[in-house]
Amino acid sequence: MKIEAAPLQQPAFPPPARPGDPLDAVDTPALVLDLDASDANVAALHRQAAAAGLAVRAHGKAHRCPALALRQVAAGAIGVCVQKVGEAEGFAAAGVRDILVTNELVDPSKCQRLARLAGQPGLRLAACVDDPLQVQRLAEACARADTRLEVLIEIDVGQKRCGVETVEQALAIAAAIQRAAPRLALRGLQAYHGRAQHLRGVAERADAIARAAGVAGEFRAALERGGFAIREISGGGTGSFPNEAGAGIWTEIQAGSYALMDLDYRANAADPAAPQLRQALGVMTAVISRRASHAVLDGGLKSFAVDSGLPAMRDPRWRVVSLSDEHTVVEPLAGAQPLELGQRLILDPGHCDPTVNLHDWIVGYRGDRVEAVWPILPRSASR
Ligand SMILES: Cc1ncc(COP(=O)(O)O)c(C=O)c1O
Repeated sequence: MKIEAAPLQQPAFPPPARPGDPLDAVDTPALVLDLDASDANVAALHRQAAAAGLAVRAHGKAHRCPALALRQVAAGAIGVCVQKVGEAEGFAAAGVRDILVTNELVDPSKCQRLARLAGQPGLRLAACVDDPLQVQRLAEACARADTRLEVLIEIDVGQKRCGVETVEQALAIAAAIQRAAPRLALRGLQAYHGRAQHLRGVAERADAIARAAGVAGEFRAALERGGFAIREISGGGTGSFPNEAGAGIWTEIQAGSYALMDLDYRANAADPAAPQLRQALGVMTAVISRRASHAVLDGGLKSFAVDSGLPAMRDPRWRVVSLSDEHTVVEPLAGAQPLELGQRLILDPGHCDPTVNLHDWIVGYRGDRVEAVWPILPRSASR
């Protein structure tokens, strides 16, 4: 039997909606974005950052959607952050002109892709390092591509993920960067404390970020004493933004979730100093089965990330009971109106970033109309 070669191209599936469609005609399950809420969140955080003298570098990993990134830039962001080289390539191809990879690269192949991207005219590109080997690999890649890159030394300010722990390590890396001139140049520090963003209490978050600011200040002072200029300190995010804005250490904020929002962030005690952020992201599902005891929706674990808890119905009289691969079971509480078969329901996700990663399109709507349908970078961009 002769077996035909499998096609190498992904088959094209149509987007779940078109601009102008009524919202309740969206094909489900679909990722949807309330543009009034998202625009208001973006404007509020950018306004507050500007008042504090801070730049916003929107974290594109939250949505991986070039169209949304360009809107954030149009609304005043200086550019985007990404975690992956593929994301940097995707955002650059769409026209984002200032990109920071807030992550460490080790593989020569990834360093070479980044170094080649750095040669794109008009693109300002940088990456993080926390080991001399990354410096060496990036410098070699830039030499081969005949390009230059800026780098930030990532310091651990409490996150206990990437980042150097001692001033001596930072000084050694800064010296390695200096030796790699003109291929590499030190831009500054990355000081990111993501765990602090999800501490529930206002005082707990303030305390954790005050300690992070103290650590970042010590590293900056030591590097400057060593003769290394620190022009930027990048970090922070949606949950701890007012604390970083008030600390006087950070020069740019890497907020990502603010344009979308999720239940996990809404579980934080509201900081009166923070902009009021509205839930903008949702997943639209349709009712495909119903009984007196419950109804079944057509999106499950393949539509919602549940690492931060189950999604929630917007109508509080309906409770999400369970999710399986393709289904969500919801049950009525007192006063709930019966659901109709085919009825569209938007649920709020527990965690926005990994939920977006399960979808190919963002359907942007205002009121009851679809305004825009934007592609999300493919999951292969996670490399
Ligand atoms: C390095 C870095 N910066 C910024 C962010 C953005 O955080 P948020 O989406 O909570 O604003 C993240 C999110 O995980 C991150 O890993």
